[in-house]
Amino acid sequence: MRATFGVGLLGLGTVGSAVARAMTTRTKRLEAMAGRPLRLVAAAARDPKKQRDAGGVTVTQDVFAILDDPDVHVVVEVIGGTSPARDLQLAAFERGKHVVTANKELVAKEWKALHEAARLAKRELRFEAAVAAAVPVIAATRQLAASRPRVVRGLLNGTTTFICSQLDRGRSFDEALAEAIRLGYAEADPTADVDGYDAAYKLSILISLLEGRHFHPDDVRRTSLRGTTLADVDAARARGVTIRYLATADFGEKATRARVGPEEVALDSLEGQAVGPTNVVRFETDLAGTLVFSGPGAGGDATASAILGDVIAI
Ligand SMILES: NC(=O)c1ccc[n+]([C@@H]2O[C@H](COP(=O)([O-])OP(=O)(O)OC[C@H]3O[C@@H](n4cnc5c(N)ncnc54)[C@H](OP(=O)(O)O)[C@@H]3O)[C@@H](O)[C@H]2O)c1
Repeated sequence: MRATFGVGLLGLGTVGSAVARAMTTRTKRLEAMAGRPLRLVAAAARDPKKQRDAGGVTVTQDVFAILDDPDVHVVVEVIGGTSPARDLQLAAFERGKHVVTANKELVAKEWKALHEAARLAKRELRFEAAVAAAVPVIAATRQLAASRPRVVRGLLNGTTTFICSQLDRGRSFDEALAEAIRLGYAEADPTADVDGYDAAYKLSILISLLEGRHFHPDDVRRTSLRGTTLADVDAARARGVTIRYLATADFGEKATRARVGPEEVALDSLEGQAVGPTNVVRFETDLAGTLVFSGPGAGGDATASAILGDVIAI
């Protein structure tokens, strides 16, 4: 059995708490799968006094105490956003730690800087949870490396899928958005979801992996869901289709074109049937043909599953 592998957790919100909980409730399984004991060494949050699941470790505001702790071998960054997450991930590599993250915005925007820092440090950067949470599309994308991609298409954002499914049920966009916020699917500021930034980050990560070079999220054409009306959905349904917020990458001979926005899908397709956080990702490739992945693309436990899969794989 190898020596204990220490985990430092930066962020104890929806995802961080689920990681801490899973680490304390399934230590035997994690040890068996990793071939070494995994130990949650320390956890950081903005407000250390807040009641939450922290896996029995002390919660600190001092993120650098975790980065400098010699017992921490992998830093799990689940704070989100670019600042301070970018500096914290780079500081982790400088200190010889591996980094596992669910932070799609940071990975999509800072692809080059993060990968270069990991390469220089000879440490791993892993981000399975950043795209489609529990659905292992990052692992699948890496495994498809020998195949040329033709199209990647799917549902990468649960909030917009929920809103579209509410439009299917006769609610207006504003009513559907209010319900999404009430149920906790959407943030009070829903811009990242309904204006397509979140889906664009995830699509940019998949394209970057499939092409072996950075494809910036600004190069994804975004159309907001805000303009979609009940009348659009009714007209679509009368023709046997409905509307979902799709992310699409077309890998042409000369250029890759990427877009996110409302599009028509067959009523009886996986996409047309999806109602909430279910993500769907279809890959069309030359050697491997068409592959379809579907499953929970959000939620604390689903995201923790992907994060711990990454920690085990290091
Ligand atoms: N939620 C999901 O279903 C999901 C799915 C896939 C990926 N993700 C990604 O996972 C990441 C985390 O998402 P989340 O939903 O868990 O967010 P969240 O609930 O808002 O949690 C963020 C955590 O970071 C802490 N934090 C914020 N600023 C900090 C700082 N400067 N130093 C230390 N801690 C700080 C917060 O502390 P306080 O609690 O004290 O405020 C909170 O515990 C994001 O990148 C998100 O995009 C989330």
